[in-house]
Amino acid sequence: MERTTFIKPIYLFLFSIICISSFGILEASDDEYYWKTRAVQAQMIAKSAYDPKPHAATNRFNKAVHKMFSSNSTGRNLKEKYNGPCLATNPIDRCWRCRKNWANDRKRLAKCVKGFAHGTTGGLHGAFYVVTDPSDNDVANPKYGTFRWGAIQAKPLWIVFARDMIIILKQELMISSNKTIDGRGAQVHIAHGAQLTIQFVHNVIIHNLHIHDIKPGGGGMVRDSVDHCGLRTMSDGDGITIFGSSNIWVDHISMSNCADGLIDVIQGSTAITISNSHFTRHNDVMLFGASDSYSDDQIMQVTLAFNHFGRGLVQRMPRCRWGFFHVVNNDYTHWLMYAVGGSKNPTIISQGNRYIAPPNLSAKEVTKREYTEVGIWKNWIWRSQGDLMQNGAFFIQSGGKNSRHFSKSDLIKSKPGTFVTRLTRFSGALNCHVGKKC
Ligand SMILES: *[C@@H]1O[C@H](CO)[C@@H](O)[C@H](O)[C@H]1NC(C)=O
Ligand SMILES: *[C@@H]1O[C@H](CO)[C@@H](O)[C@H](O)[C@H]1NC(C)=O
Ligand SMILES: *[C@@H]1O[C@H](CO)[C@@H](O)[C@H](O)[C@H]1NC(C)=O
Repeated sequence: MERTTFIKPIYLFLFSIICISSFGILEASDDEYYWKTRAVQAQMIAKSAYDPKPHAATNRFNKAVHKMFSSNSTGRNLKEKYNGPCLATNPIDRCWRCRKNWANDRKRLAKCVKGFAHGTTGGLHGAFYVVTDPSDNDVANPKYGTFRWGAIQAKPLWIVFARDMIIILKQELMISSNKTIDGRGAQVHIAHGAQLTIQFVHNVIIHNLHIHDIKPGGGGMVRDSVDHCGLRTMSDGDGITIFGSSNIWVDHISMSNCADGLIDVIQGSTAITISNSHFTRHNDVMLFGASDSYSDDQIMQVTLAFNHFGRGLVQRMPRCRWGFFHVVNNDYTHWLMYAVGGSKNPTIISQGNRYIAPPNLSAKEVTKREYTEVGIWKNWIWRSQGDLMQNGAFFIQSGGKNSRHFSKSDLIKSKPGTFVTRLTRFSGALNCHVGKKC
């Protein structure tokens, strides 16, 4: 869901008193100016992150998968719990997993992203910050040692967790630019509280977390950076909201049962990869573009790869508008209504996924065009190539082959859907132990 970005100055005036810190009290007019400035800066950065040749990006991705299989075959194809030696079954995981010293070389991860978020480095050039305190008692002036303290710092940071913990956020947690949130080596649950929000920022990696049972935050004074704290309206209760942001990579996250969406990518966000994640128990899974009237979402480019869309999911995996979406090598084992859909002329390149339709005879179609006449959507470019269709699943394609956005010869074939159980085998948060292969 969309919500208002800017709040009425009168409320700011009433609340700004509570946010006193060593930086002093912000005036109401400063707050509005602050967010407008942030929006303008973020838009400029997003425009430069936009890839003018999205098909070339899809081809690079598919080539990387082919290359991995030509160098080695992983052999196994089953999905039950695996207790054998460490196996990395796709090119993102191959880049860092199964090295005994992963914990001494955490920043290697920053070289591993593929797809549209290519080049995302997160906190690579920063220090490590260790979260030792799971509490979140002061959202206006967070305490050193908490997750929130690290997330709002101005400098790049590589954030890790000292031990297993459940973090119940009192209000949405604002993540600032140039951060890696690295949950490896601990079981970290962001749960039963408010969401993660990535608003008007760039260059963030979120890795190896459990995010579930997120609820709307009531709103109030929340610090979003060391020198700014301001009034937030209620948060939606998404798992992760990516709002007006670019170069964001979400990898190996287990997500379920949030109040709104699991991941929303909205307001002109671009250069996004969501990979190796496991989604369960949820209705509206992912929203890429929140409004048919927000044409700035044309720059949106998202790669969705090696994810497992599992038990208890209903629809929107994702629901797309405006932008360019590469949906590649994902495993769709459960949906109740549809898997991939949208409105407002999004380009959807579906390659090498496995789609297993539910028993419901009215829900076998993978795709759904929302509120649009066929005379209009017949021109939208929605392509299925190498997808494995099971249990009667079918994908309705559209888009003329002479369209300026698409020509078949431009596309390199993906690894086919028959490889998906292998490629997605270790989706979701991993149980990594320091000193052992992950
Ligand atoms: C391929 O597999 C062999 C044996 O399992 C391993 O030693 C080698 O490092 C692998 N090669 C690549 C490129 O991963
Ligand atoms: C993030 O890092 C880049 C590269 O070092 C830098 O240019 C940029 O200003 C940083 N962003 C913020 C908001 O500090
Ligand atoms: C079957 O799918 C249709 C279309 O999504 C839906 O409207 C209907 O509620 C489903 N029926 C059941 C029993 O789930």
